[in-house]
Amino acid sequence: MEKEFHHHPSRMPDNSAMKQQKLPAHQLHFSARVVLTIFFATGVFCFCMGVILILSAQSIQEIEINYTYICENCAKLRENAFNFDQKCTCSVPFYLQENMEGDVYMYYKLYGFYQNHYRYVLSRSNNQLVGKDIMDVEDCAPFKVSQNKTPIAPCGAIANSMFNDTIILSYTLKSSVHIQVPMLKTELTWWTDKYVKFQNPSLINLSDRFVGTEKPPYWQAPIYELDTSDPGNNGFLNDDFIVWMRTAAFPTFKKLYRRLYRVQYFMDGLPAGNYSFNISYNFPVTRIKGEKSVVLSTLTWSGGSSLFLGLAYTVTGAFLWLASFALMAIHMTMKKKKLSYRR
Ligand SMILES: *[C@@H]1O[C@H](CO)[C@@H](O)[C@H](O)[C@H]1NC(C)=O
Ligand SMILES: *[C@@H]1O[C@H](CO)[C@@H](O)[C@H](O)[C@H]1NC(C)=O
Ligand SMILES: *[C@@H]1O[C@H](CO)[C@@H](O)[C@H](O)[C@H]1NC(C)=O
Ligand SMILES: *[C@@H]1O[C@H](CO)[C@@H](O)[C@H](O)[C@H]1NC(C)=O
Ligand SMILES: *[C@@H]1O[C@H](CO)[C@@H](O)[C@H](O)[C@H]1NC(C)=O
Repeated sequence: MEKEFHHHPSRMPDNSAMKQQKLPAHQLHFSARVVLTIFFATGVFCFCMGVILILSAQSIQEIEINYTYICENCAKLRENAFNFDQKCTCSVPFYLQENMEGDVYMYYKLYGFYQNHYRYVLSRSNNQLVGKDIMDVEDCAPFKVSQNKTPIAPCGAIANSMFNDTIILSYTLKSSVHIQVPMLKTELTWWTDKYVKFQNPSLINLSDRFVGTEKPPYWQAPIYELDTSDPGNNGFLNDDFIVWMRTAAFPTFKKLYRRLYRVQYFMDGLPAGNYSFNISYNFPVTRIKGEKSVVLSTLTWSGGSSLFLGLAYTVTGAFLWLASFALMAIHMTMKKKKLSYRR
């Protein structure tokens, strides 16, 4: 080693040090400009996005009808666990003052429902939900198996507590002519949900696929009867089911329930007028001191929370501007110092 070292005196740092110092200095000069430009451009982009989002959020029309108290009789009935077999429907009339133009979405909104509790969030079997192993109920406590030890499908607390009110919207065409507003119950989920995260176990006959399992204890019908009219919306592929299984992060949350089918009177959206929600009230909330409401909204491409997103973008944009000005100032003073040093 020592010998070698003596053989190559040219590798000693002395000479190259100057070069090395020059090179990064040059790069720094170049990259400062690039970084500044990127910061500035990103700042402008974020700011514009933010403004667009805030403007579009303001054009969203939304009405919310809180039906826990309007359907008080049903709410009281559901407080008592022995009355769950009894049907309870409730009609909630309302007047829509302005046309709701474009696509209209119907949501249910729950207040005070803790879908984010850690034990609850983990109580599911992804192996089951992707159709890999229908018998895998390992992580589903306390809803793994039924009383006679049969595995539950879909197992777990999330699936068991699925929202099960049915909400029908009807429109008063003339004084006593009511028509049901056509609503679609598909394409309510993300693409990855329907094609990656949820799959039915693969056998030809859907009910055969669930042989050897039992329905969740709180459900009235097995999973393969959620929507018998449409195989693509049945079993684990049911949109209502998938929507419920995507757990909410806050105790107050809104989940997509239906979307307006734009035909006939509803080609351009919902016309102003008299409407009523016909609600089959099954899901208990008063026991947990919660509340339920139904929301109609003209959601834009940017989603329902675009006001929040818009603010986030605007703030980020402003911050990036500030940062780029600060960087520019630093850069300038450094440049000045360098110049005076050279002089
Ligand atoms: C729902 O309506 C009731 C009675 O009108 C009211 O007391 C309650 O605060 C409302 N809840 C929400 C979340 O708006
Ligand atoms: C609705 O859900 C509740 C709570 O999960 C359950 O107790 C009830 O039996 C269900 N009713 C229907 C009709 O599915
Ligand atoms: C699927 O299986 C069930 C029960 O084995 C049977 O009643 C039903 O007719 C079958 N459906 C089809 C389409 O084969
Ligand atoms: C809506 O209903 C109210 C009360 O039932 C009635 O007075 C009003 O004329 C109705 N409006 C329309 C546009 O049908
Ligand atoms: C609401 O739905 C129930 C059950 O589907 C039906 O019996 C009732 O007539 C409906 N009420 C209205 C006002 O549409």
